Amino acid sequence: MRSLIDIKELSTEEINELIAVATDIIENPKKYSEACYGKILATLFFEPSTRTRLSFESAMCSLGGKVISVSSADSCSASKGESVADTAKVVSCYSDIIAMRHPKEGAPLVASMNASVPVINAGDGGHNHPTQTLADLLTIHRELGRLDNLTIGFCGDLKFGRTVHSLITAMSRYTGIKFVLISPEELKVPSYIKRDVIKKNNIEYVQTTDFEAVIPELDILYMTRVQKERFFNEEDYLRLKDRYILTPDKLEFAKPELKILHPLPRVNEIAVAIDDDPRACYFKQVYYGRIMRMSLILKLLEVNV
Ligand code: CP
Repeated sequence: MRSLIDIKELSTEEINELIAVATDIIENPKKYSEACYGKILATLFFEPSTRTRLSFESAMCSLGGKVISVSSADSCSASKGESVADTAKVVSCYSDIIAMRHPKEGAPLVASMNASVPVINAGDGGHNHPTQTLADLLTIHRELGRLDNLTIGFCGDLKFGRTVHSLITAMSRYTGIKFVLISPEELKVPSYIKRDVIKKNNIEYVQTTDFEAVIPELDILYMTRVQKERFFNEEDYLRLKDRYILTPDKLEFAKPELKILHPLPRVNEIAVAIDDDPRACYFKQVYYGRIMRMSLILKLLEVNV
């Protein structure tokens, strides 16, 4: 039995297999419509979500399975003090696979150590978000046809943005990758990501606060929201939240083949006027997230179609 807590648990071959199955799902959806008949997915979301919870549920429905759901911490017995470990043991009796989001870093790992079914980390605090990364990888693969030889700009909240940490970890295995890390001083990539991932893999990178200066060199621009819910102090959030806003004028010198990604939700860091630009990929990314979660559920349930 296999869980997915961190994207680094997947080998490059397994990522390629997940992308290949996702591609087949896109081309032959009917083939998969009963693949998980009789299986139950439990979504345990102790933090708000639109995309991740609903895309997991939509994925399981599209595979012919069923879904049970906790959509907030205050609607379940966690609010009475039940531990993550006990919750995982209990929900294992009701389901074949669990997707868990939790504000505490490491909570899905604790769940996986106590569950008797696979557990998928659907986002833990400011730490990791491996299934968003699978969505990002499929988006990049379909839009650019490759996962190597890319200059990737990450812009915004690189400190608390768990999708950034997971995507940096995933992309660090490919050749010819350069990271351009664009953030205010206070929201720089955590030192453990720089030390244990970027430097350890000898990845070329630059850190900058000057967004406009670096846009022309990017193949991918990964915009992120400033994560209000992770700040200790509202004053700091208000000071930093509007620091980087992508507007059409900033794209004047960008590559025509640039791809703009964003894990969403967007607050105001990408102007709505960008949505019609052919370089904007963030709503396609949402669709690919559902497909990659279908592919992942099949893998962890060991269902071959
Ligand atoms: N990208 C993402 O995790 O979105 P949600 O918070 O809506 O799930």
